[in-house]
Amino acid sequence: MPKPLMHLGFDFSYSHMAGRWLMPGAWPGHVFPDIEMFEEMARIAERGLLDMLFSGDGTGVPDTWRGGRDAAVEWGVNWPRQDLNPIAVAMSRVTKHIGFGLTYSSTFMHPYYTARLMNSLDHITKGRIAMNLVTSTRRSDYANFGMNDLMDHGQRYDRMEEFVDVCRKLWDSVEPAAMVWDRATGRVGDPARVHDVHHRGTHFRVDGPLNTPPSPQGRPVLIQAGGSPRGIRASAYFVDHAFGGDMPLASQVRQRKAFDEALLAQGRDPSKVGILWQTPIVVAQTEREAVGRLDQLAAAYPDEAVGAYLSYNCGYDFSTLPQSFTIGELHADIIASQASPMGFLHDLSVRLGPESTLTRSDFFEHGRRDAVNYDTTLAGTPSQIADRLEEAFEATGSRGGFMLGHAASMPLDLIGIADLLVPELQRRGRFRTEYRFRTLRENLADS
Ligand SMILES: Cc1cc2nc3c(=O)[nH]c(=O)nc-3n(C[C@H](O)[C@H](O)[C@H](O)COP(=O)(O)O)c2cc1C
Repeated sequence: MPKPLMHLGFDFSYSHMAGRWLMPGAWPGHVFPDIEMFEEMARIAERGLLDMLFSGDGTGVPDTWRGGRDAAVEWGVNWPRQDLNPIAVAMSRVTKHIGFGLTYSSTFMHPYYTARLMNSLDHITKGRIAMNLVTSTRRSDYANFGMNDLMDHGQRYDRMEEFVDVCRKLWDSVEPAAMVWDRATGRVGDPARVHDVHHRGTHFRVDGPLNTPPSPQGRPVLIQAGGSPRGIRASAYFVDHAFGGDMPLASQVRQRKAFDEALLAQGRDPSKVGILWQTPIVVAQTEREAVGRLDQLAAAYPDEAVGAYLSYNCGYDFSTLPQSFTIGELHADIIASQASPMGFLHDLSVRLGPESTLTRSDFFEHGRRDAVNYDTTLAGTPSQIADRLEEAFEATGSRGGFMLGHAASMPLDLIGIADLLVPELQRRGRFRTEYRFRTLRENLADS
């Protein structure tokens, strides 16, 4: 019996940022946002038959470290960024099959605008669009949308679900047979097949209909990455595929189980909904070369960028750290300041214990490893990486696959995926040898 196929995306979110843009093998002669970089990326990823290219997004410049944005601007920490939609359009014009995953915030955006945008992109790409919805957490993001504060975590997910409800109603408001384009009579549309939405909810009032023709996929492939119990429940409510964070295998197995239970509670079939696990990789002909690239990135990552990166992610200014402290003290201080102890600090506490004493320089050394994903990147030969992917795929129910990324150097790392890793997975019967379908949704469901 053939083995279930893995699905692979590639996350290019950070490939032009701190340290990475200067690595050997990084775009010679181009700097962000030269569209030729993106076109080249799309061609390479399609040569490797990947399911999709994806980018996360944020709408502010990190400004927590030293209470300002200077370090982020100077060293390229989560900046610069651009809206992803014109980039996806450009990439779609040089490819035929690969899909494009775009990230938007349901906390800031309006569902009418977003539903219409996704419809337009789905037309232009001929059915190759996915939308990743995020709730957003950062002050520098929400301060640009007239907010003094964020609604709380649970409310943001409530709004996300209502956002999706409105989008779905809008995508269904014009039936597939509504467009007539009859040259004999001159009739453009059939009014009986175009419907009001009349949504009256807690967050949105929308009359509808959407004023666009229905798109090839009808609606984009929907993705969401929430990892908290509320976030997982929201995923179970609406996603076609979930994103899973970069975490140890035992945590992935736990998250898959929690997600399956949430899907069942929604009356959905867990065997039909995959998780794409965020997986940083560097693949090379030899393990030495792959690990060497990661070491080179860690050495090239500027110190100030480490501070800006960590402070932004935790919402806490680590420039104020004393010379020496215990992890438990820092944890308590972060909680007292309403910042987020999750992620890096949580992992550090689990790994070293809350009683451990750190100096400032120990802390930033751990932070550097976190910023370049040093301890979680699969750096090795195609066969070493394929072994690890197979192990994780089987342990998490052989559904979905991996969102590869956090590359050390682009396009070199993507070329490694397309030309070294993919052939290895194909030899093992784990990856497609051709695109069999037209739309992203169909290709992602190909098993
Ligand atoms: C693969 C992946 C991609 C993500 N991309 C973004 C992003 O682009 N923008 C963003 O604000 N958050 C992003 N997140 C954060 C999630 O949306 C979510 O807030 C996080 O996983 C915590 O889950 P929770 O909100 O349920 O606590 C991403 C998370 C993962 C795992």
